[in-house]
Amino acid sequence: MLKADNDKQLQHAGRLLKLGGIVAIPTETVYGLAANAADTDAIQQVYQAKNRPQNHPAIVHIGAIEQLQDWAYGIPDEAYLLAEQFWPGPLTLLLHRHPKVSPLITGGSHSIAIRMPNQAQLRKILQQQNIGVIAPSANLHKQLSPTTAAHVLEQLDGKIDAVLDGGRCSVGIESTILDLRETSDKLRILRPGPITAQQLSKVLNQEVEAPEQHDVSVAGNMAKHYQPQAKLRWLNSNTNANANANITEPHSIILVRSLRDDLPQQQQRALGATPEQFAHALYHTLHELDQKRVPTIWLEPLPETHEWQALRNRLHRAAE
Ligand code: TXA
Ligand code: MG
Repeated sequence: MLKADNDKQLQHAGRLLKLGGIVAIPTETVYGLAANAADTDAIQQVYQAKNRPQNHPAIVHIGAIEQLQDWAYGIPDEAYLLAEQFWPGPLTLLLHRHPKVSPLITGGSHSIAIRMPNQAQLRKILQQQNIGVIAPSANLHKQLSPTTAAHVLEQLDGKIDAVLDGGRCSVGIESTILDLRETSDKLRILRPGPITAQQLSKVLNQEVEAPEQHDVSVAGNMAKHYQPQAKLRWLNSNTNANANANITEPHSIILVRSLRDDLPQQQQRALGATPEQFAHALYHTLHELDQKRVPTIWLEPLPETHEWQALRNRLHRAAE
Protein backbone atom coordinates (compact mmCIF):
# COMPACT_ATOMS: atom_id res chain seq x y z
CA MET A 1 0.00 0.00 0.00
CA LEU A 2 1.41 3.38 -1.05
CA LYS A 3 0.33 6.62 0.60
CA ALA A 4 -0.80 9.38 -1.77
CA ASP A 5 0.17 12.10 0.72
CA ASN A 6 3.78 10.90 0.77
CA ASP A 7 5.64 12.43 -2.20
CA LYS A 8 8.11 9.57 -2.64
CA GLN A 9 5.39 6.94 -2.53
CA LEU A 10 3.23 8.97 -4.91
CA GLN A 11 6.11 9.21 -7.39
CA HIS A 12 6.71 5.49 -7.04
CA ALA A 13 3.05 4.81 -7.95
CA GLY A 14 3.48 7.09 -10.99
CA ARG A 15 6.61 5.27 -12.17
CA LEU A 16 4.94 1.89 -11.67
CA LEU A 17 2.08 3.00 -13.91
CA LYS A 18 4.36 4.50 -16.54
CA LEU A 19 6.38 1.27 -16.72
CA GLY A 20 3.41 -1.06 -17.15
CA GLY A 21 2.33 -1.91 -13.59
CA ILE A 22 -1.32 -2.15 -12.54
CA VAL A 23 -2.09 0.12 -9.60
CA ALA A 24 -5.38 0.81 -7.81
CA ILE A 25 -5.87 4.58 -7.62
CA PRO A 26 -8.15 6.90 -5.66
CA THR A 27 -10.57 9.14 -7.54
CA GLU A 28 -13.35 11.32 -6.14
CA THR A 29 -15.99 8.77 -7.29
CA VAL A 30 -14.66 5.26 -6.52
CA TYR A 31 -11.22 3.60 -6.61
CA GLY A 32 -10.09 2.55 -10.10
CA LEU A 33 -7.69 -0.18 -11.22
CA ALA A 34 -5.29 1.75 -13.43
CA ALA A 35 -2.94 0.87 -16.28
CA ASN A 36 -1.00 3.10 -18.66
CA ALA A 37 -3.51 3.55 -21.50
CA ALA A 38 -0.67 3.40 -24.06
CA ASP A 39 0.48 -0.04 -22.82
CA THR A 40 -1.64 -2.89 -24.21
CA ASP A 41 -0.01 -5.55 -21.99
CA ALA A 42 -0.82 -3.57 -18.86
CA ILE A 43 -4.41 -3.03 -20.07
CA GLN A 44 -4.86 -6.77 -20.52
CA GLN A 45 -3.55 -7.38 -17.02
CA VAL A 46 -6.25 -5.08 -15.62
CA TYR A 47 -8.96 -7.07 -17.40
CA GLN A 48 -7.48 -10.33 -16.09
CA ALA A 49 -7.20 -9.12 -12.50
CA LYS A 50 -10.84 -8.00 -12.51
CA ASN A 51 -12.17 -11.02 -14.45
CA ARG A 52 -13.64 -8.49 -16.82
CA PRO A 53 -14.75 -9.51 -20.32
CA GLN A 54 -12.57 -7.99 -23.09
CA ASN A 55 -15.53 -6.35 -24.84
CA HIS A 56 -16.31 -4.05 -21.90
CA PRO A 57 -14.81 -0.66 -22.69
CA ALA A 58 -12.85 1.28 -20.05
CA ILE A 59 -12.64 5.00 -19.29
CA VAL A 60 -9.38 6.89 -19.98
CA HIS A 61 -8.41 9.26 -17.13
CA ILE A 62 -6.37 12.34 -18.04
CA GLY A 63 -4.59 14.97 -15.94
CA ALA A 64 -5.05 18.03 -18.17
CA ILE A 65 -7.58 19.18 -20.79
CA GLU A 66 -4.82 19.35 -23.44
CA GLN A 67 -4.52 15.55 -23.23
CA LEU A 68 -8.05 15.15 -24.66
CA GLN A 69 -6.77 15.29 -28.22
CA ASP A 70 -4.32 12.43 -27.60
CA TRP A 71 -7.27 10.04 -27.20
CA ALA A 72 -10.18 11.54 -29.13
CA TYR A 73 -10.59 13.26 -32.50
CA GLY A 74 -13.28 15.48 -33.96
CA ILE A 75 -13.86 16.86 -30.46
CA PRO A 76 -16.98 19.09 -30.45
CA ASP A 77 -17.08 22.51 -28.73
CA GLU A 78 -19.60 21.04 -26.27
CA ALA A 79 -16.83 18.85 -24.84
CA TYR A 80 -14.66 21.87 -24.04
CA LEU A 81 -17.59 23.81 -22.57
CA LEU A 82 -18.43 20.93 -20.24
CA ALA A 83 -14.79 20.24 -19.40
CA GLU A 84 -14.31 23.87 -18.36
CA GLN A 85 -17.37 23.71 -16.16
CA PHE A 86 -17.17 20.24 -14.62
CA TRP A 87 -13.53 19.05 -14.84
CA PRO A 88 -11.82 17.95 -12.77
CA GLY A 89 -14.95 16.11 -11.68
CA PRO A 90 -17.32 13.14 -12.01
CA LEU A 91 -18.27 13.61 -15.69
CA THR A 92 -17.15 11.19 -18.42
CA LEU A 93 -17.48 12.23 -22.08
CA LEU A 94 -18.00 9.70 -24.85
CA LEU A 95 -16.17 10.88 -28.00
CA HIS A 96 -14.73 9.44 -31.21
CA ARG A 97 -11.63 7.33 -30.55
CA HIS A 98 -8.44 8.72 -32.07
CA PRO A 99 -7.31 6.30 -34.83
CA LYS A 100 -3.92 5.74 -33.18
CA VAL A 101 -5.48 4.61 -29.87
CA SER A 102 -5.71 0.87 -29.20
CA PRO A 103 -9.23 -0.59 -29.65
CA LEU A 104 -8.39 -2.82 -26.65
CA ILE A 105 -9.36 0.14 -24.46
CA THR A 106 -12.77 0.51 -26.05
CA GLY A 107 -13.82 -3.11 -26.47
CA GLY A 108 -13.25 -2.73 -30.22
CA SER A 109 -15.59 0.28 -30.44
CA HIS A 110 -14.75 3.47 -32.38
CA SER A 111 -15.86 5.59 -29.42
CA ILE A 112 -13.83 6.37 -26.32
CA ALA A 113 -14.86 7.51 -22.83
CA ILE A 114 -12.64 10.13 -21.14
CA ARG A 115 -12.67 12.02 -17.86
CA MET A 116 -10.43 14.17 -15.65
CA PRO A 117 -10.78 12.98 -12.05
CA ASN A 118 -10.99 15.43 -9.16
CA GLN A 119 -8.21 13.89 -7.07
CA ALA A 120 -5.21 16.21 -6.89
CA GLN A 121 -2.54 13.56 -6.21
CA LEU A 122 -3.72 11.33 -9.05
CA ARG A 123 -3.73 14.30 -11.44
CA LYS A 124 -0.20 15.14 -10.32
CA ILE A 125 0.98 11.65 -11.33
CA LEU A 126 -0.81 11.81 -14.69
CA GLN A 127 0.78 15.19 -15.43
CA GLN A 128 4.28 14.32 -14.16
CA GLN A 129 4.45 11.04 -16.06
CA ASN A 130 2.57 12.53 -19.02
CA ILE A 131 0.27 9.51 -19.31
CA GLY A 132 -3.42 8.70 -19.47
CA VAL A 133 -4.62 5.65 -17.57
CA ILE A 134 -7.55 3.36 -18.11
CA ALA A 135 -9.25 2.76 -14.77
CA PRO A 136 -12.31 0.57 -14.43
CA SER A 137 -13.60 0.46 -10.88
CA ALA A 138 -11.19 -1.58 -8.74
CA ASN A 139 -13.57 -4.44 -7.92
CA LEU A 140 -14.11 -7.90 -9.32
CA HIS A 141 -16.51 -7.99 -12.29
CA LYS A 142 -20.14 -7.09 -11.28
CA GLN A 143 -19.29 -6.61 -7.60
CA LEU A 144 -19.45 -3.56 -5.40
CA SER A 145 -17.16 -0.64 -6.26
CA PRO A 146 -14.53 0.26 -3.61
CA THR A 147 -14.46 3.61 -1.83
CA THR A 148 -11.34 2.97 0.30
CA ALA A 149 -7.95 1.33 -0.29
CA ALA A 150 -8.96 -1.41 2.19
CA HIS A 151 -12.03 -2.29 0.06
CA VAL A 152 -9.72 -2.70 -2.95
CA LEU A 153 -7.51 -5.17 -1.09
CA GLU A 154 -10.53 -7.23 0.04
CA GLN A 155 -11.22 -8.07 -3.62
CA LEU A 156 -7.88 -7.72 -5.42
CA ASP A 157 -5.05 -8.37 -2.95
CA GLY A 158 -2.30 -10.44 -4.61
CA LYS A 159 -3.55 -9.65 -8.14
CA ILE A 160 -2.24 -6.09 -8.48
CA ASP A 161 1.12 -4.32 -8.14
CA ALA A 162 0.06 -1.67 -5.61
CA VAL A 163 -2.78 0.38 -4.13
CA LEU A 164 -2.36 4.11 -3.82
CA ASP A 165 -4.20 5.10 -0.64
CA GLY A 166 -5.81 8.52 -0.99
CA GLY A 167 -8.37 8.09 1.79
CA ARG A 168 -12.09 7.71 1.38
CA CYS A 169 -13.68 8.81 -1.92
CA SER A 170 -15.50 12.11 -1.51
CA VAL A 171 -18.36 11.50 -3.98
CA GLY A 172 -18.85 7.75 -3.55
CA ILE A 173 -20.62 6.63 -6.77
CA GLU A 174 -19.39 6.37 -10.38
CA SER A 175 -19.24 9.31 -12.80
CA THR A 176 -22.03 10.43 -15.13
CA ILE A 177 -21.38 9.29 -18.72
CA LEU A 178 -22.59 11.64 -21.50
CA ASP A 179 -22.63 10.66 -25.18
CA LEU A 180 -21.10 13.51 -27.23
CA ARG A 181 -20.51 11.61 -30.48
CA GLU A 182 -23.42 13.30 -32.20
CA THR A 183 -24.23 16.78 -30.92
CA SER A 184 -26.70 18.15 -33.48
CA ASP A 185 -29.71 16.51 -31.80
CA LYS A 186 -30.72 15.80 -28.19
CA LEU A 187 -27.79 14.60 -26.09
CA ARG A 188 -28.08 11.42 -24.06
CA ILE A 189 -26.73 10.24 -20.72
CA LEU A 190 -25.53 6.61 -20.84
CA ARG A 191 -24.98 6.22 -17.10
CA PRO A 192 -26.60 8.61 -14.61
CA GLY A 193 -24.22 9.90 -11.96
CA PRO A 194 -23.36 12.78 -9.65
CA ILE A 195 -23.79 15.40 -12.41
CA THR A 196 -27.41 15.51 -13.55
CA ALA A 197 -28.99 16.03 -16.98
CA GLN A 198 -30.34 19.36 -15.71
CA GLN A 199 -26.85 20.62 -14.83
CA LEU A 200 -25.47 19.59 -18.24
CA SER A 201 -28.43 21.01 -20.10
CA LYS A 202 -28.04 24.38 -18.37
CA VAL A 203 -24.40 24.75 -19.42
CA LEU A 204 -25.02 23.66 -23.02
CA ASN A 205 -28.40 25.32 -23.40
CA GLN A 206 -29.53 22.12 -25.12
CA GLU A 207 -31.80 19.25 -24.13
CA VAL A 208 -30.11 16.31 -22.38
CA GLU A 209 -32.02 13.03 -21.99
CA ALA A 210 -31.46 10.75 -19.03
CA PRO A 211 -33.32 7.48 -19.61
CA GLU A 212 -34.51 5.86 -16.39
CA GLN A 213 -33.80 2.41 -17.86
CA HIS A 214 -30.08 1.78 -18.23
CA ASP A 215 -28.81 1.42 -21.78
CA VAL A 216 -28.18 -2.27 -22.51
CA SER A 217 -26.76 -1.45 -25.95
CA VAL A 218 -23.55 -0.41 -24.19
CA ALA A 219 -21.25 -3.36 -23.52
CA GLY A 220 -20.50 -3.51 -19.84
CA ASN A 221 -23.74 -1.77 -18.88
CA MET A 222 -25.43 -4.86 -17.45
CA ALA A 223 -28.70 -4.97 -15.55
CA LYS A 224 -27.03 -6.86 -12.74
CA HIS A 225 -24.18 -4.81 -11.29
CA TYR A 226 -22.81 -3.16 -8.14
CA GLN A 227 -23.80 -6.21 -6.09
CA PRO A 228 -22.96 -6.72 -2.43
CA GLN A 229 -22.96 -10.20 -0.84
CA ALA A 230 -26.07 -9.47 1.23
CA LYS A 231 -29.56 -10.00 -0.25
CA LEU A 232 -31.22 -6.69 -1.08
CA ARG A 233 -35.00 -6.34 -0.62
CA TRP A 234 -37.33 -3.41 -1.20
CA LEU A 235 -39.44 -2.13 1.64
CA ASN A 236 -43.13 -2.14 0.98
CA SER A 237 -44.00 1.52 0.31
CA ASN A 238 -46.91 1.65 2.78
CA THR A 239 -44.48 0.82 5.50
CA ASN A 240 -44.99 -0.17 8.99
CA ALA A 241 -43.34 -3.04 10.78
CA ASN A 242 -46.39 -5.27 10.12
CA ALA A 243 -46.64 -4.63 6.39
CA ASN A 244 -42.96 -5.58 6.21
CA ALA A 245 -43.04 -8.46 8.66
CA ASN A 246 -39.72 -9.92 7.46
CA ILE A 247 -37.65 -6.89 8.30
CA THR A 248 -37.80 -7.87 11.92
CA GLU A 249 -35.75 -10.98 11.04
CA PRO A 250 -32.71 -10.76 13.35
CA HIS A 251 -29.58 -9.10 11.93
CA SER A 252 -31.31 -7.56 8.92
CA ILE A 253 -30.57 -3.88 8.35
CA ILE A 254 -32.77 -1.19 6.80
CA LEU A 255 -31.13 1.58 4.77
CA VAL A 256 -33.04 4.84 5.07
CA ARG A 257 -32.36 8.48 4.23
CA SER A 258 -33.20 9.73 7.73
CA LEU A 259 -34.20 7.72 10.81
CA ARG A 260 -37.91 6.83 10.85
CA ASP A 261 -40.11 6.24 13.84
CA ASP A 262 -42.34 3.66 12.08
CA LEU A 263 -39.49 1.11 11.86
CA PRO A 264 -37.31 -0.59 14.49
CA GLN A 265 -34.66 1.97 15.51
CA GLN A 266 -31.77 -0.39 16.15
CA GLN A 267 -32.04 -1.94 12.65
CA GLN A 268 -31.96 1.34 10.73
CA ARG A 269 -28.95 2.94 9.04
CA ALA A 270 -29.45 6.56 7.98
CA LEU A 271 -27.32 7.36 4.91
CA GLY A 272 -28.29 11.01 4.49
CA ALA A 273 -31.16 13.25 3.50
CA THR A 274 -29.48 14.71 0.39
CA PRO A 275 -28.34 12.73 -2.70
CA GLU A 276 -24.74 13.88 -2.04
CA GLN A 277 -24.73 12.56 1.53
CA PHE A 278 -26.49 9.36 0.46
CA ALA A 279 -23.99 8.71 -2.37
CA HIS A 280 -21.03 9.35 -0.06
CA ALA A 281 -22.34 6.75 2.39
CA LEU A 282 -23.91 4.11 0.09
CA TYR A 283 -21.10 1.79 -1.11
CA HIS A 284 -19.15 2.48 2.05
CA THR A 285 -22.03 1.17 4.16
CA LEU A 286 -22.70 -1.81 1.88
CA HIS A 287 -19.03 -2.84 2.20
CA GLU A 288 -19.24 -2.52 5.96
CA LEU A 289 -22.45 -4.60 6.15
CA ASP A 290 -20.86 -7.29 3.93
CA GLN A 291 -17.85 -7.39 6.26
CA LYS A 292 -20.25 -7.97 9.14
CA ARG A 293 -22.00 -10.66 7.06
CA VAL A 294 -25.41 -9.02 7.37
CA PRO A 295 -27.66 -11.46 5.45
CA THR A 296 -30.43 -9.12 4.29
CA ILE A 297 -30.52 -5.40 3.63
CA TRP A 298 -33.87 -3.63 3.20
CA LEU A 299 -34.03 -0.63 0.91
CA GLU A 300 -36.32 2.34 1.27
CA PRO A 301 -37.59 3.44 -2.19
CA LEU A 302 -35.92 6.73 -3.18
CA PRO A 303 -37.72 9.90 -4.34
CA GLU A 304 -38.67 9.95 -8.03
CA THR A 305 -36.94 13.31 -8.61
CA HIS A 306 -34.02 13.85 -11.02
CA GLU A 307 -31.50 14.53 -8.23
CA TRP A 308 -31.98 10.97 -7.00
CA GLN A 309 -31.83 9.30 -10.43
CA ALA A 310 -28.24 8.00 -10.21
CA LEU A 311 -28.90 6.50 -6.79
CA ARG A 312 -32.16 4.87 -7.95
CA ASN A 313 -30.16 3.38 -10.84
CA ARG A 314 -27.44 1.94 -8.57
CA LEU A 315 -29.90 0.49 -6.05
CA HIS A 316 -32.12 -1.10 -8.71
CA ARG A 317 -29.15 -2.78 -10.33
CA ALA A 318 -27.65 -3.92 -7.04
CA ALA A 319 -31.02 -5.42 -6.08
CA GLU A 320 -31.64 -7.02 -9.52
O1 TXA B 1 -16.36 7.16 -11.75
C1 TXA B 1 -15.98 6.37 -12.62
O2 TXA B 1 -16.32 6.49 -13.81
C2 TXA B 1 -15.07 5.22 -12.18
C3 TXA B 1 -13.75 5.84 -11.68
C4 TXA B 1 -12.72 4.79 -11.34
O3 TXA B 1 -13.26 6.74 -12.62
N1 TXA B 1 -14.84 4.30 -13.26
C5 TXA B 1 -15.77 3.41 -13.68
O4 TXA B 1 -15.32 2.53 -14.66
O5 TXA B 1 -16.90 3.37 -13.23
P1 TXA B 1 -16.08 1.20 -15.06
O6 TXA B 1 -15.18 0.56 -16.07
O7 TXA B 1 -16.42 0.44 -13.87
O8 TXA B 1 -17.36 1.69 -15.81
C6 TXA B 1 -17.19 2.37 -17.04
C7 TXA B 1 -18.38 2.20 -17.94
C8 TXA B 1 -18.36 0.87 -18.67
O9 TXA B 1 -19.04 -0.14 -17.97
C9 TXA B 1 -19.09 1.21 -19.96
O10 TXA B 1 -20.47 0.99 -19.80
C10 TXA B 1 -18.84 2.70 -20.14
O11 TXA B 1 -18.23 3.15 -18.98
N2 TXA B 1 -17.92 2.95 -21.26
C11 TXA B 1 -16.58 3.11 -21.22
N3 TXA B 1 -16.09 3.28 -22.44
C12 TXA B 1 -17.12 3.25 -23.29
C13 TXA B 1 -17.27 3.34 -24.71
N4 TXA B 1 -16.21 3.51 -25.52
N5 TXA B 1 -18.50 3.24 -25.23
C14 TXA B 1 -19.59 3.08 -24.43
N6 TXA B 1 -19.52 2.96 -23.09
C15 TXA B 1 -18.31 3.05 -22.53
MG1 MG C 1 -17.48 -0.71 -12.49
